[in-house]
Amino acid sequence: MRQDVKAETMNLTEKIISLKKEKNALILAHNYQRPEIQNIADYVGDSIELSRKAMQEKDAEILVFCAVDFMAESASILNPDKRVLLPSRGARCPMAQMLTVDEIKRAKVHHPDAPVVLYVNTLASSKAYCDICCTSANAVEVVNSLAADTILFGPDRNLAEYVAEKTGKTLIPIPEWGFCPTHLLFQPEDVALLKLEYPDAAVMVHPECSAEMRQVANFVGSTSKMCLYANDCEAKNIIVATEEGILHRLRKENPEKHFILAYGGAVCPNMKLTTLERLYSSLKEEKHVIKVPDTVARNARVSLEKMFQIKS
Ligand code: 13P
Ligand code: SF4
Repeated sequence: MRQDVKAETMNLTEKIISLKKEKNALILAHNYQRPEIQNIADYVGDSIELSRKAMQEKDAEILVFCAVDFMAESASILNPDKRVLLPSRGARCPMAQMLTVDEIKRAKVHHPDAPVVLYVNTLASSKAYCDICCTSANAVEVVNSLAADTILFGPDRNLAEYVAEKTGKTLIPIPEWGFCPTHLLFQPEDVALLKLEYPDAAVMVHPECSAEMRQVANFVGSTSKMCLYANDCEAKNIIVATEEGILHRLRKENPEKHFILAYGGAVCPNMKLTTLERLYSSLKEEKHVIKVPDTVARNARVSLEKMFQIKS
């Protein structure tokens, strides 16, 4: 980093830290955030950990959610007395936009007895319409907790297939082809090439990746579960198939290991919209407040809270 850019970053970092104290704010950052955002955050985690942290937070008045829209919405739903800020208003997960309430209603007409399980990567209005939420860290346990054998599951088709494999249940994907554009970039051919160079490498794959990617994985799991696996596994070289932001945390926690992104272009542009500048101005002006209408929030909270009752 150039000297003047470094000084400016330092300056901004110090300003954010002092503003955070002054305003009694807590900064939560997803594992995919830029390194400088992860470094300044009070807590870095996957989507369930961040939701739990937001739900349990008592002292802070402001929660700054460095992530994408649905995660900040969940924080606001779970802890409605807090002022939740999303530093960049444009940070929206495209997968969450893929499922509408109308689509859920249409699926229910064809499968009236099937419970609806929704990945938290959904809009609040859709969460309000489901039986229970899940994340990639607990989807298998959530589906196993239901008595039904046929389940409507959305919006990620790959996660639905993974959970169906693990539980032996029939998961009907809603919509038919919901996906994460970033995770679809990973291809087994790229892993095969890397394996020529690093034959002993372990391969970690996020369940939003394709079935072909899961087949070449030593481990499949959520971003924080990947961090746990990397800490514990014996391999020195680890190939990583999830968004590139996680490499910062993996390298910080395991300086002796070598992490290789399975595809160099796997960047979620939405996650990267959060910059130090945007974080600073959002906190300073208390702008981009995320608030979910009460009627929607009430029902969505029930679906989220049911998820927290499932042991995983
Ligand atoms: P995690 O819950 O594994 O952090 O995943 C969230 C996400 O958006 C993956 O693309
Ligand atoms: Fe959404 Fe994919 Fe980005 Fe996760 S990585 S926030 S699922 S677009």
